[in-house]
Amino acid sequence: MDDLKSSRLTRDGIRMHESGDFAGMRRAGSLAAGILDQVAPRIAPGVTTGEIDDFITRRVEEAGAISATIGYKGYQHASCISVNHVVCHGIPGAKVLKDGDILNVDITVIVDGWYGDSSRMFVAGKLGRKAERLIQVTHDALMVGIGAVRPGNTFGDIGHAIQTYVEAQRMSVVRDFCGHGLGRVFHAPPNVLHYGRAGTGPRLEPGMFFTIEPMVNLGRPETKVLSDDWTAVTRDKSLSAQFEHSVGVTENGCEIFTLSPAGRFHPTWA
Ligand code: MF3
Ligand code: CO
Ligand code: CO
Repeated sequence: MDDLKSSRLTRDGIRMHESGDFAGMRRAGSLAAGILDQVAPRIAPGVTTGEIDDFITRRVEEAGAISATIGYKGYQHASCISVNHVVCHGIPGAKVLKDGDILNVDITVIVDGWYGDSSRMFVAGKLGRKAERLIQVTHDALMVGIGAVRPGNTFGDIGHAIQTYVEAQRMSVVRDFCGHGLGRVFHAPPNVLHYGRAGTGPRLEPGMFFTIEPMVNLGRPETKVLSDDWTAVTRDKSLSAQFEHSVGVTENGCEIFTLSPAGRFHPTWA
């Protein structure tokens, strides 16, 4: 039996939240986004990914929030930091950033039981031309996906919009990782694929909360996970980028919970 009286599950196991639940997601989402805003000015050549993670750990604690990733399936850090050809789940540590490196920083915080999950791209030093194009296309792919979020559309419409956009730019969408439902849990149904066919999959309904987090590669889409069991890299070593927002379906579209308070979501807006 469904023990949460404030919401119900669809036949696909997707939770439909109440209008009052949006306020909780807004608080969690804006904390995640606000912390990423504070990360932006600290990224520079010479900084280690471990230092960035330590900074995030302190900001989460200071806010009286909880990191969802520390202790999650044995993961020990408050962020995933994925540099250059690392697709996702890069483990922060001794790695020193060098001029021209691009990196995704992904954090998930819990505020009053609600999860806010977001990631964005940063650059250490000077952004190269190919990297800049990859970042722009990946950012725009996320926004194109979000543009397909409205009641009556399906999850397949989101994936189709992202895939069509990315492939028209002669880049590739990673298939091995996907977005996910979230709310009072970190990872819930459905899997939000970043590729697919229009009109397929569950129908979007108001009150569904999920992430969209496309990973885009300059080369081929295949990935492999390194022997640390976390770090996912492109098999062909090509550059990879990712952006992630947590969103909620509304009556006529969607609300983005993880909007940057400082307007710094994209690295060239910082
Ligand atoms: N934040 C990631 C996501 O977008 C999940 C990271 S899980 C971790 O779903 F354990 F690797 F941190
Ligand atoms: Co996520
Ligand atoms: Co994330």
